[in-house]
Amino acid sequence: MTESPSPRQPDLAGERQDPDQEAATVARLLTQGRAGEPDETPRAPRRGSVNAQFEEIFYESFLKFFKNAEAKRRWSIDRDIPWEKTSTNASDVTALIVESFSAVEMFLPDYTHRIMELVRRSRGRAWFQANWGYEESKHSMVLEDWLIRSGKRTEEQVRAFENDLLGAEWQLPFGTPRQMIIYTMIQELATGLNYTNLRRRADDEGDAALARVLRWVSADESAHYNFFRRGVKAYLSLEPEETVADIKYVFEQFAMPAQALIPDWDKRGETIEAAGVYGPKMYLAKIRRPILEDLGISRQQLKAAGLPEAEADAVADRAEERAADAAQALFQRTIFVPPGPKALTPAGRRTVLAIP
Ligand SMILES: [Fe+2]
Ligand SMILES: [Fe+2]
Repeated sequence: MTESPSPRQPDLAGERQDPDQEAATVARLLTQGRAGEPDETPRAPRRGSVNAQFEEIFYESFLKFFKNAEAKRRWSIDRDIPWEKTSTNASDVTALIVESFSAVEMFLPDYTHRIMELVRRSRGRAWFQANWGYEESKHSMVLEDWLIRSGKRTEEQVRAFENDLLGAEWQLPFGTPRQMIIYTMIQELATGLNYTNLRRRADDEGDAALARVLRWVSADESAHYNFFRRGVKAYLSLEPEETVADIKYVFEQFAMPAQALIPDWDKRGETIEAAGVYGPKMYLAKIRRPILEDLGISRQQLKAAGLPEAEADAVADRAEERAADAAQALFQRTIFVPPGPKALTPAGRRTVLAIP
């Protein structure tokens, strides 16, 4: 008589386990995470959607983003900020900028649900959006915490400001997934630059807590930029002409999100610019040009994307020089053989030419 098979258990460690082993595995994962386990390269499963190539790239890109976030970039508002080092001498300008940036982050409900509706059919983009929402949700919370702990705002002031903001709703500035990924790529780099520049002020004013807050937040923004940048590169490889036209259009129309919805934004914007944190000139030099350079597009595409002729030529010339340098370095690595007796033929001549 044969025994009936035992019920299938969840496969937590790559193989079937008995219930005791499984309980031990669950306990270990909950208390220690997966530290020390082999670092496997994520692979996207094949799927048969209409946009299968995009989907494969986006999902694989999301898995890389997620794995990296889980391994290196998760941070806790309570545990990872040295709150005892909050200064009570921060300037009013710094406080106003922190409050303004936290206000931009407060439109999270609109950012998440409106973009989610647009990308709903893409697993890679939708799952990214869910993770993005979690990470962004901490940004307004941690900035508000600093405003209260530093004594620059009372809890009541923060709540009243928050209530004002939540009365307005942000709308999508562009109507297609391709235009929106270009928009979010630009916006994430600009936001990262805002926080990096503000961090310099925090350092100058001796506020180690705010400096650490801004370091974590700008690391998140930089990871978001990278995800969107990889997505735009996918569009460039699969729909080059349409994507370049959209890049031009979105750059020309770009404005940071929700500013029209935030009270006194004109005054806030002037303060931010006067403090050297962000402004229109910075947008052209530190956002538009670096992004176009970063996308690795051709000289003609740079011009078609709206970069002025001389700037496009300078960017393309630099890219060509870098490509030539890389090719030369590869050539040297390929044919270089370290000197030594075994590299010599019996006749005393090298079998392969060594570049000095
Ligand atoms: Fe953010
Ligand atoms: Fe972000």
